[in-house]
Amino acid sequence: MRLVLVGPPGAGKGTQAQFIAEHVDVPKISTGDIFRANVSQGTPLGVLAKQFMDRGDLVPDDITIDMVRDRLQQPDARAGFLLDGFPRTVPQAQVLDDLLRETSYSKLDVVLELVVDDDEVIRRLSGRRTCRTCNRIWHVDFDPPQKDGICDVDGGDLYQRDDDQAETIANRLEVYAESTAPLVAYYASRGVLIGIDATGPVDDVTQRAIDALRPMQPNLAR
Ligand code: AP5
Repeated sequence: MRLVLVGPPGAGKGTQAQFIAEHVDVPKISTGDIFRANVSQGTPLGVLAKQFMDRGDLVPDDITIDMVRDRLQQPDARAGFLLDGFPRTVPQAQVLDDLLRETSYSKLDVVLELVVDDDEVIRRLSGRRTCRTCNRIWHVDFDPPQKDGICDVDGGDLYQRDDDQAETIANRLEVYAESTAPLVAYYASRGVLIGIDATGPVDDVTQRAIDALRPMQPNLAR
């Protein structure tokens, strides 16, 4: 299955991507995670991307597209993938369509839109913590680790993302409305969009997503 998760910052894309990718048995490809890994390693791509990420702006399309093209050409992505954070603009979506046609004569099966309002986004982002080693996402109130600041999964340090400051969150929401929200109409017009209510407990949201995917892959576990 080839699927994309779309939704505003903090909608829960990273959280759900992990669980949905395991259920569907495809690699999860997160452009935000790839950029952050490059930032922490100090690569030229990371140095460039950081300037945009710190402001809450999008990294320019040409840079992002080259990075995703390389990743999709790796063998593990040939039979399917879950994209989290890409595409984020209509030009990126058009390039993805072309890429799939060129590399596998295929197209996207489904785009899941995680629907949540701005107040909830702000609550989620201001309490988010991420594990420095395994990238597991936590929340200080909604999904706290057992020990403050320590990841339950691998004991890694939890950190707060630089782009989760109040002013940056506000800019990310504006950028989403202007540049990414038009993707919803783009994919609806192609008949591949499914909206998912992304409020309520994480497990409930995962279950809604899996139920929406079952018609395409009937053997999905509950
Ligand atoms: P990226 O990392 O993709 O950020 P984003 O889209 O802004 O999304 P987030 O990661 O902030 O949120 P999320 O929806 O994944 O929510 P999460 O699961 O963490 O991109 C970062 C930057 O990289 C961009 O700003 C841009 O600069 C650049 N970039 C990336 N891709 C790009 C592209 N394609 N083009 C150009 N630039 C690009 O959840 C948030 C919090 O809520 C967590 O604490 C979680 O525990 C909690 N939570 C989740 N679900 C629930 C629930 N159901 N109930 C309560 N709490 C919940």
